[in-house]
Amino acid sequence: MEYIGYKKFNCFVELGNLYGGSLWLYAMLFCNRYAKIVGIDLGHKQSLKIIERELLKRNFNIKLYEKPAETVYTIFQQEIDLLHIDANHAKIQEDFELYYPAIVGFQREIISLLTLLLKRLQKS
Ligand SMILES: C[S@@+](CC[C@H](N)C(=O)[O-])C[C@H]1O[C@@H](n2cnc3c(N)ncnc32)[C@H](O)[C@@H]1O
Repeated sequence: MEYIGYKKFNCFVELGNLYGGSLWLYAMLFCNRYAKIVGIDLGHKQSLKIIERELLKRNFNIKLYEKPAETVYTIFQQEIDLLHIDANHAKIQEDFELYYPAIVGFQREIISLLTLLLKRLQKS
């Protein structure tokens, strides 16, 4: 969080939304109003739909994809300035490699909940 500071982002993509908690939190804390917010998950819970509605009310440009993350990355130009990888934790590196080219070139600012990766690093 210290790394992000007070910076606000314009295109936030989250892989793995579940109930929408982190989508909501990151959008509200880290994104500009009118920012593009994209949620990608295999299935959408009712709570995620509520969060979608609430973010729309607050002028975010939100779009949800009910698809595997590995099938959606091609829709992005080089525009993502905040990426939260939290889908299949066994495939964090693959997701990272698929989405990395779509991250805004000079910034490449990434937040990843690399739970498993961090655990692995801690063990080694
Ligand atoms: C750890 S949860 C996400 C939690 C959420 N980011 C939060 O913090 O509130 C993981 C989610 O990833 C989704 N998921 C698993 N494999 C996926 C894939 N290949 N593509 C997209 N979503 C996937 C699951 O359906 C699940 O909702």
